This record gives sequence, structure tokens and C-alpha cells, in this order.
Amino acid sequence: MTQGEILYSGKAKTICLSEKPDELIVSFRDDITAFDGGKKDQLQGKGASNAGVSAFLFGILEESGVQTHFIRMEDPVTMRVKKLSMIPLEVIVRNRAAGSIVRNYPFTEGHYFDPPVVVTDYKDDTRHDPMINDDIIVALGLLTHEEIARVKASALKVNLVLKAFFDGIGLELVDFKIEYGRYGNTILLGDEISMDSMRLWEKGTMKSMDKDVYRFEKGDVMEAYRTVSARIFGSR
Ligand SMILES: Nc1ncnc2c1ncn2[C@@H]1O[C@H](COP(=O)(O)OP(=O)(O)OP(=O)(O)O)[C@@H](O)[C@H]1O
Ligand SMILES: [Mg+2]
Repeated sequence: MTQGEILYSGKAKTICLSEKPDELIVSFRDDITAFDGGKKDQLQGKGASNAGVSAFLFGILEESGVQTHFIRMEDPVTMRVKKLSMIPLEVIVRNRAAGSIVRNYPFTEGHYFDPPVVVTDYKDDTRHDPMINDDIIVALGLLTHEEIARVKASALKVNLVLKAFFDGIGLELVDFKIEYGRYGNTILLGDEISMDSMRLWEKGTMKSMDKDVYRFEKGDVMEAYRTVSARIFGSR
């Protein structure tokens, strides 16, 4: 693997150029942050946990016909991906109410959404990722209405696949955030899908097995991340 110049260093991952112009090298670091970077720590093994889980989930999504940026793992914390022109949106799918939707609207924590709720946020830390609607997305020139429909349908497909998978390993997929980007004329699923970007509850309880353990100091976050990872890799 040839790891080139650093293109971008985010809160949890470092993105480098590779020897190929259309591929990037993503390193998952041990950094964990919450509340727009207001809380931060380093946790040994966190990068490898998230990288492994992300790679695995991109794999099952590809098998189900969802196109992703994932190419292969180069080592336990390093992923080779297709270089996307990222669309600055966070596409959030919610099966049960938790987090901001409980703070902002009169839903009780754990309320079941049937059908699932899809929310889009404009990805801009300086503006605290405000919620955005379809007309504003189009007005900003990010996506056409037709592309928005395709992205939302893709996010719901991701939800179906992941929800069924996690159910099989005793975990409930409460919600998750994904990001998409353009690759030539196509739109691919990019970034990561990990315990940093999903809410997972131990089935039958509301016990967090994701970054909420860190956000709200509910226990040993690495123990939760290791448990999820071990269940995932024990499932095949
Ligand atoms: N395939 C890809 N091609 C180009 N950029 C990507 C790709 N996948 C993810 N990214 C971008 O790389 C960055 C990943 O870094 P990280 O998640 O650590 O950033 P972050 O701190 O969340 O910051 P940001 O708010 O910009 O995401 C994100 O900006 C993400 O949009
Ligand atoms: Mg990010």
C-alpha cells in the first residue's frame, strides 16, 4: 500500500491519497469525540473495532445490492476506498426514537417508528449540522429531487439489511447516520457505518452498545464496542 499526502484529518479518521487517483486510504484512529468535539478521548483499539465493523457491514450491503465506496482492508485500521466527491448531508434513518428527535419533538425515548423515519441534516460543524429539507437540498445544488428520492430509497434499503442482520445477533438497530458521495455518474455509500454512527440496543432492553455509552458515561465504551464486534465476526 502506498499512503500519500493527507487530504483531510477529521475527528476520527485520516484520509490520505493513494497511488491511484480515484482511490483513497482511510485510517480509523483511536480518537473518540462527542458533542461537536466538546468531549474527546483516545481509546486503544477503537479504530480497529470501527474499521472492522464498517468493512464487514459494507460487505453485507454490497451482497444485498447496495453500492459502496469500500474496496478492501489494507490492515486492521486502514481501508482502501473509492474517492468520492462527498455530498454534505447526513442521512439518518430511525427505527426507534432516541437522541435529537426526543429532544426536539414530543416522542418518548424508544417510541417505535413504523415506517422508519428518514431525516437529512446539512453537514456543517460550524452550523451544528442543521436539519435540511428537500427543497433546500435542491436549492443548494447538492442533489436533484430525483436523486434525493434515490438516496432515501437506498438509506431505507441499508436499514432493512442492517436491521435484519443485527436482529440475528441479538441487537436492535435503533438509528444510524450515513453519508453518500458522487463517483462519476453514480452516487455511492461512503464514509463509515460503525458504533460511532449507529445506535444499537441490546435486544429486549434499551441498553446502549454504541457511542451513547461514551456520550452519557453509561459504562465501558470499549467493552461495548468489542462485544458488538465479536458478535458480528462470530456470526459468519
Ligand atoms: N470515499 C470517500 N471519499 C472522499 N471523502 C470521504 C470518503 N468517505 C468519507 N469521506 C469523508 O472523509 C471524512 C472522514 O473523516 P471523519 O469522519 O473523521 O471526519 P469528521 O470529523 O466527521 O468531519 P466531517 O464533519 O468533515 O465528517 C469526512 O469528511 C467524510 O465525509
Ligand atoms: Mg465523520
